[in-house]
Amino acid sequence: MNDFQGKRVVITGGSRGIGKHIAESFASQGASVAVISSGKYNCENVTNTFFYQCDVSNFRETQKVISDILEQMGDIDILVNNAGITRDKLVNAMSEEDFDRVIEVNLKGTFNMIKHCYRYFAKRRCGRIINIASVSGILGPKGQANYAASKAGIIGLTKSVARELGSRGITCNCVAPGFIETDMTSKLPENVKEEYLKQIPAGRYGTTDDVCNAVLFLASDASSYITGQVIHVDGGMLM
Ligand code: NAI
Repeated sequence: MNDFQGKRVVITGGSRGIGKHIAESFASQGASVAVISSGKYNCENVTNTFFYQCDVSNFRETQKVISDILEQMGDIDILVNNAGITRDKLVNAMSEEDFDRVIEVNLKGTFNMIKHCYRYFAKRRCGRIINIASVSGILGPKGQANYAASKAGIIGLTKSVARELGSRGITCNCVAPGFIETDMTSKLPENVKEEYLKQIPAGRYGTTDDVCNAVLFLASDASSYITGQVIHVDGGMLM
């Protein structure tokens, strides 16, 4: 169904986990992919993929990286905001820095990327923006006040952008994963993971492929009349 031949994709946090899987899937379907990440990524042997090291929370750095990408790829068709971090603690133990940093990377990072692509998308009157939120942004789990606030913020940001750019043929949606097996979740204690599993009707943790399939759908022509929505990829955890 999906063929991204010739499309130009930008994905943040594409050096590992969910983002890496999404970047590789787009590239394997013919897209040129710009992977942005604060961490290192070796894409020498990956076709049509270019790596840009950048901290998405930094307004000036993201402005420069989008201008470099436009110079290299000519245009951007699809923007996937996937970079994200956690610093889980009860509010009592959460420092101001823990709160600010998670908001800066997850929420402001998403804003920065959209902001710098906005006028190009608006001018060309087509484009896809897909933001990776989380089930936590709706549930508000204990110990994740910073992360839940950042992901709830991404959902609000998504809806505003969808309204602003809807008449120009640009869609903006969220994918909200549940518990996906990646480096981010591997650091959780076993008992916490078991508790999550009990809340998943599908009876298994999600995979990076599960999230990727939803992103590819939202980036494809098949979803052109869907905007401002949150697609939950969580095995039924939230319903
Ligand atoms: P991960 O920790 O494996 O990868 C995160 C990526 O973001 C890495 O490439 C890292 O270099 C990049 N990154 C971190 N800070 C950055 C910054 N300041 N600037 C640029 N890049 C930065 O995470 P994972 O599990 O692949 O998660 C990807 C997204 O999915 C995140 O937004 C996360 O919040 C979200 N998510 C993950 C879930 C899970 O169960 N793994 C569940 C729900 C949402």
